[in-house]
Amino acid sequence: MEEKKEASIPKTPLVPGTDTAAHPLVELTHVEKHFGALHVLKDINLTVNKGEVLVVVGPSGSGKSTMCRTINRLETIDSGDIRIDGKTLPQEGRELANLRAEVGMVFQSFNLFANKTILENVTLAPIKVRHMDKTDAERLAMDLLARVGVDSQAAKMPSQLSGGQQQRVAIARALAMKPKVMLFDEPTSALDPEMVNEVLDVMVELAHEGMTMICVTHEMGFARKAADRIVFMADGRILEQSTPDEFFEHPKTERAKDFLSKILTH
Ligand SMILES: Nc1ncnc2c1ncn2[C@@H]1O[C@H](COP(=O)(O)OP(=O)(O)OP(=O)(O)O)[C@@H](O)[C@H]1O
Ligand SMILES: [Mg+2]
Repeated sequence: MEEKKEASIPKTPLVPGTDTAAHPLVELTHVEKHFGALHVLKDINLTVNKGEVLVVVGPSGSGKSTMCRTINRLETIDSGDIRIDGKTLPQEGRELANLRAEVGMVFQSFNLFANKTILENVTLAPIKVRHMDKTDAERLAMDLLARVGVDSQAAKMPSQLSGGQQQRVAIARALAMKPKVMLFDEPTSALDPEMVNEVLDVMVELAHEGMTMICVTHEMGFARKAADRIVFMADGRILEQSTPDEFFEHPKTERAKDFLSKILTH
């Protein structure tokens, strides 16, 4: 008689979070946010699983940046719940700093520290927040700078680098904290056109390596190539969530059709 395999007993993964089952890393539940009288986030419900690449699109003022900023508590929320890897975002203090360190963020403007070298920009947080030894932090930083193709610039000051190079440093700096999820808020929109691709290439590579990513971007080529899911926001609400093919070929709402007709004709 054939021996029965105990396939139904799930194995404990060696590294937490490496199991293949869907593993929610970011969960927003009924999130509401006002700026004074302005209702900017309306009943936002969103789950991002480990390894998923989300691209958030929508008209200007629809709440995309605000939603990203609430995920690492650069903005507070009025009500609802935000969890990172199962833990509710704390209000403040060390616990918040720890949880925030798990979320890497890259903005439109590069915000590197102008008075520090490229290497120092990348080693600063691992040394200060993660208490990493300086030599280890420098080794990690050089490795990350090499991965984004700017290791030869390590001794320079930010102002000596091009916008595209600075943005790649900003990505390396965020990665140095070993975040569980990376947020990108229009990381290429302040760049000269010829530098957009060098940054998008790094993002595509990160996506292929399995990084969990939430990207606000107008780069529809990137969205088609790298996104697992497109989230369409308008007036503070998520109106659609679908695969890139579904979204671009068969948008469901009039708002999305209108948005697409505007961005795809230019
Ligand atoms: N700190 C703030 N105080 C008051 N109102 C704000 C603040 N930040 C954003 N808003 C308003 O909230 C709304 C949503 O802004 P948000 O920046 O999230 O939109 P967005 O979708 O990222 O737009 P864009 O595509 O232009 O970047 C807008 O009406 C904006 O003017
Ligand atoms: Mg924005």
